Amino acid sequence: MTGVFCFTGSGHSLRIGEYIAERLGSRVCMIGTKAPTDSAACETAVVVFPVYCQNIPEPVKRFLTNLKAENIVLIASYGKISWGNVLAEAEKLVNGSVIAGACIPIGHTFLNGSADFDKAALEPLFERIESPREAKIPVKRKNIFADFLPAWRSRVSVKIIRADSCTLCDLCGRSCPMSAIKNGITNEKCIRCLRCVSICPQKALSFENSVILQRYLTKKRAEKAVELFL
Ligand SMILES: Cc1cc2nc3c(=O)[nH]c(=O)nc-3n(C[C@H](O)[C@H](O)[C@H](O)COP(=O)(O)O)c2cc1C
Ligand code: SF4
Ligand code: SF4
Repeated sequence: MTGVFCFTGSGHSLRIGEYIAERLGSRVCMIGTKAPTDSAACETAVVVFPVYCQNIPEPVKRFLTNLKAENIVLIASYGKISWGNVLAEAEKLVNGSVIAGACIPIGHTFLNGSADFDKAALEPLFERIESPREAKIPVKRKNIFADFLPAWRSRVSVKIIRADSCTLCDLCGRSCPMSAIKNGITNEKCIRCLRCVSICPQKALSFENSVILQRYLTKKRAEKAVELFL
């Protein structure tokens, strides 16, 4: 059996996970919710996660360390800036054999980017899942500052603002993967995944990028394409 496991903040990785699950006749199990995510029954696990500050989000690291599957497919979504070295770092955390890796450029959460991605480019992944064999995952050099307090860098660069329309329902608190918000007020555990902003039924939460971050995000860069490692 193939299971699809997904962590998502603003829903982009979930969109990819849902597409893959549909193609495989499977369904998505969410990582980073209050219910434990059990992979024990899976022969093949497809793990879809976003790149945050060129790193693997903490809840995904925990999931990968406990993952029980013979074959593993690692899929990272990233906002067209850099995916750091996340595939090789994820490969180090897991126990099973990594049979494929993919890095998928998609809209950046902090720019309210689109969740569209190149589906056609993923075709070879499905063939590899049918006939599994070990993949060659590259080791990439990442920015020398990438490992310097990534979550803190996001917190100081992105402000989360609560409007008066908040009804104190604490749905944000119950949905947060880091136990980092209560009734719309965040604490120092926040990784700025912006799941709370996406799910608030009152649209009471919004975010604001610092001027420096906005300038960095909107810098002109080369076009990016899906990269597959088989
Ligand atoms: C906290 C945070 C940090 C991010 N860091 C990076 C990054 O280092 N490089 C990049 O290309 N995109 C980065 N992004 C963009 C996300 O990787 C991208 O939008 C991803 O698709 C978000 O997926 P999600 O909606 O499933 O969380 C970051 C987004 C967030 C929220
Ligand atoms: S989910 Fe929205 S309305 Fe509910 S407590 Fe959080 S911010 Fe307030
Ligand atoms: S409080 Fe922070 S970590 Fe929790 S959902 Fe919101 S942005 Fe993500």
